[in-house]
Amino acid sequence: MEHSYNEIFSQSVQSPETFWAEAADRLHWYRKWDRVLDSSNPPFYRWFTGGTTNTCYNALDRHVDEGRGNSLALIFDSPVTGTKERYTYRELRDIVALFAGALQSRGVRKGDRVIIYMPMIPEAVVAMLACARIGAIHSVVFGGFASHELAVRIDDCKPKVIVSASCGIEHSKVVDYKRLLDFAIELAHFKPEICIIRQRDQLKAELNEERDLSWKQSLLGAEPAACVPLESTDPLYILYTSGTTGQPKGIVRDNGGHMVALKWSMEHVYDVKPGEVYWAASDVGWVVGHSYIVYAPLLHGCTTLLFEGKPVGTPDPGTFWRIVSEYGVSVLFTAPTAFRAIKKEDPHGRYMKQYDLSSLRTLFLAGERADPDTVQWAEQKLQVPVIDHWWQTETGWAIAANCQGIEPGPVKYGSASRAVPGYDVRVVNQDMEELPTGEMGDIVIKLPLPPGTMLTIWKADNRFVENYMTRYPGYYQTSDAGYIDEDRYIHIMSRTDDIINVAGHRLSTGAIEAELSGHPDVAESAVIGVHDDLKGQVPLGFLVLKTGVDTPHQQIVKHVIEYVRENIGPVASFKNAVIVDRLPKTRSGKILRSTMRKLANSEPFDIPATIDDPDILEEIRTALSTIGYAT
Ligand code: COA
Ligand code: AMP
Repeated sequence: MEHSYNEIFSQSVQSPETFWAEAADRLHWYRKWDRVLDSSNPPFYRWFTGGTTNTCYNALDRHVDEGRGNSLALIFDSPVTGTKERYTYRELRDIVALFAGALQSRGVRKGDRVIIYMPMIPEAVVAMLACARIGAIHSVVFGGFASHELAVRIDDCKPKVIVSASCGIEHSKVVDYKRLLDFAIELAHFKPEICIIRQRDQLKAELNEERDLSWKQSLLGAEPAACVPLESTDPLYILYTSGTTGQPKGIVRDNGGHMVALKWSMEHVYDVKPGEVYWAASDVGWVVGHSYIVYAPLLHGCTTLLFEGKPVGTPDPGTFWRIVSEYGVSVLFTAPTAFRAIKKEDPHGRYMKQYDLSSLRTLFLAGERADPDTVQWAEQKLQVPVIDHWWQTETGWAIAANCQGIEPGPVKYGSASRAVPGYDVRVVNQDMEELPTGEMGDIVIKLPLPPGTMLTIWKADNRFVENYMTRYPGYYQTSDAGYIDEDRYIHIMSRTDDIINVAGHRLSTGAIEAELSGHPDVAESAVIGVHDDLKGQVPLGFLVLKTGVDTPHQQIVKHVIEYVRENIGPVASFKNAVIVDRLPKTRSGKILRSTMRKLANSEPFDIPATIDDPDILEEIRTALSTIGYAT
């Protein structure tokens, strides 16, 4: 008998142990758990304690051992290099086992960290799974981050090995990954022992004989490695995400809970079946890529797609549709910004009409608020359900979604739909009082969180507790604000911290400010997120110069923009800054960023009662109008 959403949701929060034990039974364990949920040390909840398993075994070998070795596991499609490759489960298992053996032969053991700084090529997936196979903890760093950001991550997780590539291709630009890597290692205090570099034809890297090996050299003489049985609670990976300071947070994920939650989500959230083609058009450097390019589709026995390209310009806005039709994609998952890019270049959907899209059943969107215009455009052009769902790097999988495998509800534009089973979502005010339906407040989730969510922040348990678990005791603070409506649909409206969302990428304005304050001409700065039609938001900087700086303002702005690009990376999309004499502040000296943001976006606002000097707002408005804002 089919169960209703209400029944399944209630069971998940009232009897989480029974609920998740049933899901866990569908995976392979060397030893079954002693306890499904260990609540002995809150807020450090642990899933499937005492159980031993291996995520790589479950993602690859299990399928081969159960007779599905010839099914397709991975398709690689790279319009920017004209490459297409296909790997069956058996082939992928063998390549992963060999690379895992190569890592082992270089001394990599359970618990050692391996940074993966790579473009979207199969070796990135192979390296992740190889680490999982031997219990090494991978930390993938997104290629759009520059050397300084990479160095910060090297110093934080201290990797024994870094796996990288000679280059990546962005549109038609060749990005010299090896140069960025070398510089990062120079900047970092901690030095990795070995760098393994996948040489690509578009640009060959020079190798440092004492430290570097090519991917091919690393495999010479290597023996395939067996899967190492790991504790369910052993870390699988660290993924850094923006915090409220310049120091990123290393989100730690476990093995057991993660694989159970992700496999469950494939069936219940995405309604996808083993053998179907599932495509997350994201990047392995983001959580979406970890969960839904690599782990979830493979754990579920689907074919996953690795795409090295962009929704537009590689070569045209028909790329997504070419891929859907060529490989028979059933479920597509991307960020709304990708659809805004396609819609801008192909508003009438002419490219879509050139392809047979009959395989496509559902489009899922996440990473930023799905604006109703984009959702409606996609629905109308594709004629399939377009499902917004809400999640975070910290949770690793959806908190709210219109679960397609459990009694799908109607689509409400502007809402990510109801809480996913496992997540007891509430909206509260500053005094921790639950708010009535429709009232906006802080969104929190009652502990324990379901399996698959973060264990802690790498080597920073205190920061984990302070950042997420202290403001609202007994609850996880999401740092998103919004409301729940009369149908229990959740509406995510904004962040409550300084994080902005740029083309579906999460960035901290505080981190950009920290860079700006390091610039020799800048005395003080503020960064806000302003509306952008394509990327949702982009950062905009306000700079107060040091006394005596007489360089032309235009030159300083240009230099500051290059400076942020060099230090944080192109992904920050920091392309706009204005110079002002002073910043609007409260009498106690707090910069009024939210007022500046409303001013820049031409939104109505009240002049804060605590403002030190209201006249400054007029100066800010004039400065903004010179670059086309606050008009
Ligand atoms: N390596 C090196 N540089 C990278 C990079 C990578 N992996 N990824 C992005 N960059 C660079 C881009 O080339 C660009 O450089 P530029 O300033 O020289 O043009 C800059 O970082 C900003 O990248 P992006 O914000 O992605 O802008 P874009 O113009 O290249 O593409 C979109 C815009 C909307 C098409 C693209 O962001 C997109 O497809 N996003 C949706 C999918 C997605 O990745 N979502 C993530 C979470 S689901
Ligand atoms: P990240 O950790 O990079 O996945 O970013 C998580 C943040 O992106 C969330 O805290 C939200 O602010 C935002 N976000 C993600 N998905 C959605 C969504 N569907 N609707 C609104 N905001 C979203």
